[in-house]
Amino acid sequence: MNSAVRDQYEQFPYPSEAEAPVISRPFDPIDDSLHFGWGWARHRFVYRRWDGLRILDAGCGSGLTSVGLAKLNPGSTVLGLDVAEKPLILARHRAEASGIHGLEFRHHDLDEPIPSAWGTFDFVVCRRVLGQVDDPVKVLKHLGATLDPRGLLLATFPASVGRGPAVALRLAVEALAGPNSTLGDQATLGLELLTALRPDHPIRQYDAARHGGLFPRVDQFVATYLNVAERGRSVAEAIRLLEAADLQVLVVPAKQPWRPEEILSGPVGPALRREVTAIDDRRMAALTDALNPTLHGEEYRFYACSVDFEPRLPTWPESLKTTPEVVEPLIPHPTGLAAPSRLSDRPGWMVYRTVTGAFGEVDERSSTVLKLVNDHHSCGAIDQLVSEKLGTVDSPEKSRDRWVELANLGFIALESLDRREHVDCTHLGPVLDRLDCACPRRWVRACELHGHCTITRVGPDDEKAQAIAAALNRLTLHKIIACDDCPDYTADE
Ligand SMILES: C[S@@+](CC[C@H](N)C(=O)[O-])C[C@H]1O[C@@H](n2cnc3c(N)ncnc32)[C@H](O)[C@@H]1O
Repeated sequence: MNSAVRDQYEQFPYPSEAEAPVISRPFDPIDDSLHFGWGWARHRFVYRRWDGLRILDAGCGSGLTSVGLAKLNPGSTVLGLDVAEKPLILARHRAEASGIHGLEFRHHDLDEPIPSAWGTFDFVVCRRVLGQVDDPVKVLKHLGATLDPRGLLLATFPASVGRGPAVALRLAVEALAGPNSTLGDQATLGLELLTALRPDHPIRQYDAARHGGLFPRVDQFVATYLNVAERGRSVAEAIRLLEAADLQVLVVPAKQPWRPEEILSGPVGPALRREVTAIDDRRMAALTDALNPTLHGEEYRFYACSVDFEPRLPTWPESLKTTPEVVEPLIPHPTGLAAPSRLSDRPGWMVYRTVTGAFGEVDERSSTVLKLVNDHHSCGAIDQLVSEKLGTVDSPEKSRDRWVELANLGFIALESLDRREHVDCTHLGPVLDRLDCACPRRWVRACELHGHCTITRVGPDDEKAQAIAAALNRLTLHKIIACDDCPDYTADE
């Protein structure tokens, strides 16, 4: 453990009491920022069971994140670990004040392996820690060793570009203050320097954006500028560290979608456009980081898992692409994943904020569709209402593509009208492709991604179904249809 880092947090726990008071509040504004990227985890991976998630908050500080995690995942247990005692004391008070059960805090140095007796975890969060440890690969290996084989890790790293002005001020303070100055001395001097800078200086502009135009308190100054060992990285460097720890990077959510037209001048040629739209999440993160780093802000958020695990984002079965009538009777349900935020610069378009904290734009028609989803009509009925409202009709193919896209983006979930016959599942649409498969591995994966399924129809192979169900704890499934992976399987219809 880096003793200078521990001393910093013993003196100035993060977040401080002034920043996040240890009192019970129905809604903590910081909870909202905790959602950034986490919604993705919640809906795609973490909520694979209703309750009983084991969550590890590695480097929990004063426990704001831990309490946020406990709130976001009701019924789960959260273990917070930190190397500094004072933040842990605050964390315990915070947990007590929240009235939420299942939170525990322990002293532990992440440079050391996490004792196996503490069990494995479904979700490991390591937020604002890895930029300050001496050997992030070692820490990540310790976290990876404690991850359930089907678990998910959220790790953040400070972004070298986004944190540039903050690091510059720290270096200036170090140069001015001399080697024997205390952190308190440095904060006082640094605040004086900050106020003396021209308002148009990049550091002043960074500070104004960060602290809402008010000069920071001492604790805020230390947390923002005096992280003694902070080392920023590029997306590509951080990915290399995660991979060196035998982790598989799944997604690097950015604050906003990348718009090539903001970076590229003139019309983008078809070849380049193809390249740009075809690349995977990791390469897209590296591309945006190189060309438009503000999309990632001050830190990168990485979702990773063990290299042997194969989680997949929901995709739709190919058959839907040729049978639009399949979509029309489906009932769209709002997932709560996105809410209208403001008008876009593009005429008629609307900006939506997702629970991941990211912003996305939808055209007028999709926006109208999303607003009508609450009424629980079928897709076909809503299409009709939208056509009447907007005075234009979409072709069935176009409308189907729109529904599928909205579902794939997580804006809505689609359910069958005929729930009893098929699957009583809140995420039927995205799950369908997995349910068309008898391979236990795929079933398991489907349920990892969409854990609230109760499959209600009885198929021919109950024994097999029950075995799979047992493996999935709470899931009851009875229906097995067919599987490309298992050619010897006889489908029942
Ligand atoms: C900036 S705070 C982040 C707190 C919390 N994760 C959050 O996002 O609110 C960093 C925390 O990591 C802890 N930390 C740093 N190095 C550590 C290590 N080697 N082992 C355990 N905790 C460590 C510090 O003591 C500090 O409380």
